[in-house]
Amino acid sequence: MTPATSLFTPVEADLRILAENLKQLVGNRHPILYAAAEHLFGAGGKRIRPAIVLLISRASILDQDITLRHRRLAEITEMIHTASLVHDDVVDESNVRRGVPTVHSLFGNRIAVLAGDFLFAQSSWYLANLDNLEVVKLLSEVIMDLAAGEIQQGLNRFDSSLSTESYLKKSYYKTASLMANSSKAAGLLSEVSPETAEHLYNYGRHLGLAFQIVDDILDFTSSTDTLGKPAGSDLKSGNLTAPVLFALKEKPYLEVLIEREFAQEGDLEQALVLIQDSQGIQRARELAAHHAKLAAEHIATLPPSDSQQALINIADYVLSRLY
Ligand code: IPE
Ligand code: IPE
Ligand code: MG
Ligand code: MG
Repeated sequence: MTPATSLFTPVEADLRILAENLKQLVGNRHPILYAAAEHLFGAGGKRIRPAIVLLISRASILDQDITLRHRRLAEITEMIHTASLVHDDVVDESNVRRGVPTVHSLFGNRIAVLAGDFLFAQSSWYLANLDNLEVVKLLSEVIMDLAAGEIQQGLNRFDSSLSTESYLKKSYYKTASLMANSSKAAGLLSEVSPETAEHLYNYGRHLGLAFQIVDDILDFTSSTDTLGKPAGSDLKSGNLTAPVLFALKEKPYLEVLIEREFAQEGDLEQALVLIQDSQGIQRARELAAHHAKLAAEHIATLPPSDSQQALINIADYVLSRLY
């Protein structure tokens, strides 16, 4: 499940420290919440967000070593992400995550909701302790955005008139906001110029959009085994993502099937055939490639270094997950 390790080479040692620290940070005030929260950290995940924070930290501070605050920011970023997954899996009623049973399927919904809250609260506490008001503002906005994104997605279920703009806005809230704001925050901890800070923000924003579009394509094209989480569930639950929105422009009957929420036997299968038979997946790939390219252009403005190159390569890696 981890990307080709060479991708993260400049921060490999940092990521090992991070893995250790994450477990410590959850604390053990309550054994059940600890067990629930630790469950997902233990399972790992790709760690792409903390890797980005660490790489930006290194790329923006160059000849000096990164600070404990840079490290803590990477940890907070992964904590916020993990908290959002615990809640997302409750909302989506998903039973597998990172190749292991989800928190709610092991401990029940009540504990999962509390464990997610606990992780969000814990990350806010560590965030405040960074003693950098600007960074606190950036990352607390992310926590608001995550909730706004989940709500928006819930409200738009089975709405075949959903625009690509609304889909991208929701994807910003759910995914790109965390990458954008944590990237910018890493730069701020290195005291980069306001101009560089904006490039870092836009790197994370475009990368995050590309990442979510790719995740949405994989939901159609990949298997549950390779993903470590259930595949093929977005359409069924009415979450209309890029491939569907593009397919709708070519296949009007898809709208009928979606609007009646696949109520008749064979509706879902027919919808899948219509999507496969359209340019939807191809056009979604092009949209992801467009955002990955913009991400690479923003990071190319940093001075060249191994870490900067790794950040450029991550933009390629996101797309390579499709092949
Ligand atoms: C999953 O993120 C949620 C999305 C934004 C698509 P990741 O694919 O980064 O999940 P982990 O951390 O590797 O499990
Ligand atoms: C991304 O949404 C999850 C969050 C950012 C909360 P998805 O619902 O697409 O993520 P997966 O597919 O469950 O990983
Ligand atoms: Mg989900
Ligand atoms: Mg998904």
